Parts: sequence; C-alpha cells; structure tokens
Amino acid sequence: MPLLRDFFIQLSENQLLNNAAQKYGLKLGAQSVVAGTNIEEAIESMKELNRLGISCTVDNLGEFVYEKSEAIKAKDEILAVIEAIHENGIDSHISVKPSQVGLDIDYDFCYDNLMEIVGKAHQYNMHVNFDQETYDRLQPTFELMEKISETYDNIGTVIQAYFFNAKENIEKYKDYRLRLVKGAYKESAEVAYQDKLDIDLNFIELIEYHLLHGKFTSIATHDHNVINHVKQFVKDHNISKDKFEFQMLYGFRKEMQLELAKEGYNFCTYVPFGSDWYGYFMRRLAERPQNINLVTKQVFNK
Ligand code: FDA
Repeated sequence: MPLLRDFFIQLSENQLLNNAAQKYGLKLGAQSVVAGTNIEEAIESMKELNRLGISCTVDNLGEFVYEKSEAIKAKDEILAVIEAIHENGIDSHISVKPSQVGLDIDYDFCYDNLMEIVGKAHQYNMHVNFDQETYDRLQPTFELMEKISETYDNIGTVIQAYFFNAKENIEKYKDYRLRLVKGAYKESAEVAYQDKLDIDLNFIELIEYHLLHGKFTSIATHDHNVINHVKQFVKDHNISKDKFEFQMLYGFRKEMQLELAKEGYNFCTYVPFGSDWYGYFMRRLAERPQNINLVTKQVFNK
C-alpha cells in the first residue's frame, strides 16, 4: 500500500498530466468526488447538501500557480464564489490554499490576495479556512493567518497530525477555529510520522486537546473509529455539540455523513469544484487506493 500511495502522490505532483486533465473536463471517476467544473454546478450541489441539514466548505480547486496572473485569476474566482454563496443564501464557508493565491510566488503578494478574500467574506460574516499543504508552506501559512487576524477574526487553519510539531502548533493556535486532519501529502521522516498507528494516536490526542482547550473544532476524517471515539469523548466530558463539527469530503461515505447530521451533530462537507481537479483527485487515490474502483467503474462502464 505505501508504494501505491507514493505512486499516486507522484502523479498528483505532475504538472504535465495536470494540464492535460484540465482540457478534458471531469474524467476517471473524478465526477463522483468533485462537485462540478463551475460555480453554478457547485451551488446546486451545496443547495442539496444544505437541504439535508449539512453545511459546506467550498474549495475552488487550483494547483501549480507560479504566475501572478494565475494567482489573481484564482483570487477573483474565489471572490465570485463568496458572492454566489451569499446571493444564494447557502450555508457554507470558504477553504483556500495559500499556494493558489501566490504563496509560491511572493509572500506579500499572497498576503494582499488573502486579505481581499478574508475581507470580502467578513462582510458576509463568512469564515475562511486556510488549508494546509506541504511542510515548506506550513509556517508561512500560520504566519499569514496570524497577520491577517490582526484585522479580521473570521479565519482559521488546519493542523496535520502527521507532523511532529502538530502538538506545539495546536497549543499555540488553540484560540483559532481549527480543522484537524491526519495529513494528505508525502512528508519526510525528519518532520512527520510515517507509521499509520503513530499518526492515528497523535490525531486522537490533538482532537481531545482541542475539544477541551480550544475554540471551535472541525474533526475532518472518514475514519469511523476516530468518529466513534469522539462521540464517546464528548459525552464523557460534557462537551456541547455546538463546540465542534465533523467534516468529510464531498462524495465520500455519503450515508455516514447523513447519519451524523441526523444524529444532531454539526456536519460540514468539503465541496471541491473546478476544472483543476487532477491533483486533488490523485491525492484521494493515494489516501485510499480502494478508490481506484471509482476509476475502473468509469473506464469500463462507458
Ligand atoms: P484514513 O484514510 O486513515 O482511513 C481510516 C479508515 O477509515 C480506513 O482504514 C477505512 O476503514 C475507513 N475509511 C476511510 N475512507 C473510507 C471510505 N471512503 N469508505 C469506507 N471506509 C473508509 N489534508 C491536508 O493535508 N490538508 C488539509 O487542509 C486537509 N483538509 C481536509 C478537509 C477535509 C474535510 C477532510 C475530510 C480531509 C482533509 N485533508 C487535508 C485530508 C486528510 O489529511 C487525510 O489525508 C484524509 O482525510 C484521509 O484520512 P482519514 O482521516 O479520512 O482516514
């Protein structure tokens, strides 16, 4: 399995394949985990989720941004998404990857773009999550969040449990709204746990810490063992349901998403959309090679 994981992560980082994939629309089964290629399709998907009692966080997919013009285009698209969510009365917040709006180009340029996004969302009382990416972007992302929170309070970020420094960071940033995840990228043994058991144990420890000491906690996982543990933990510690939510990705474990919402837990679905779906989809295959079934079904059921 680790070999397959590395294989799909390498594919996710291949810019040539990414460029090729964009030309052909949603393919290879990506349509079951990506909510369309444009805002209108994403809005329809979110309306349906809202009808089922599920809130959303929307990600306008975009990777390999190395030109300022591409970053500005991405920022403008995100501003349009914020406007569309507001106009349509959708229960959703925004997820943005700092690299998409210029982190790999110029820090100050990225800061300006994020300020505009967070400022626009603030007008509508909408939260913005800075998604976390690879280790080299971890610290700059925390710093951007800190700097922007001097002006706006509607931001938070992600803590990835595979990093050795996750505990230190969750303590430092406990007063922010945080999404807790296991971690999706390939990281070196110098900075991150490699063993699934170590990651899972750290994940549980971080969740418990933030539920007890932090602001609002988003527990983002498809792992039923972790979810069941959290249910018992909040019961034992009298933690009210409005202090946390569960999050899952669009198209994954749909029945469980619905069940948790019906049980009265806050539930939020991460809704990715856009033509730049390739890297996102490859990382999902890396996490769970069984998802390859999605691909084979699509290829053979033409
Ligand atoms: P994991 O993949 O470890 O699965 C654990 C077990 O759960 C499996 O062994 C299986 O039994 C069961 N299971 C999992 N998926 C299943 C399925 N589809 N059907 C049936 N059973 C299933 N990462 C990152 O680095 N930065 C980020 O900003 C984010 N953001 C983010 C948002 C949201 C909403 C989610 C859900 C995830 C992220 N991630 C992320 C990704 C995250 O780091 C992680 O890679 C994936 O969620 C996979 O880990 P899981 O915790 O889901 O369980």
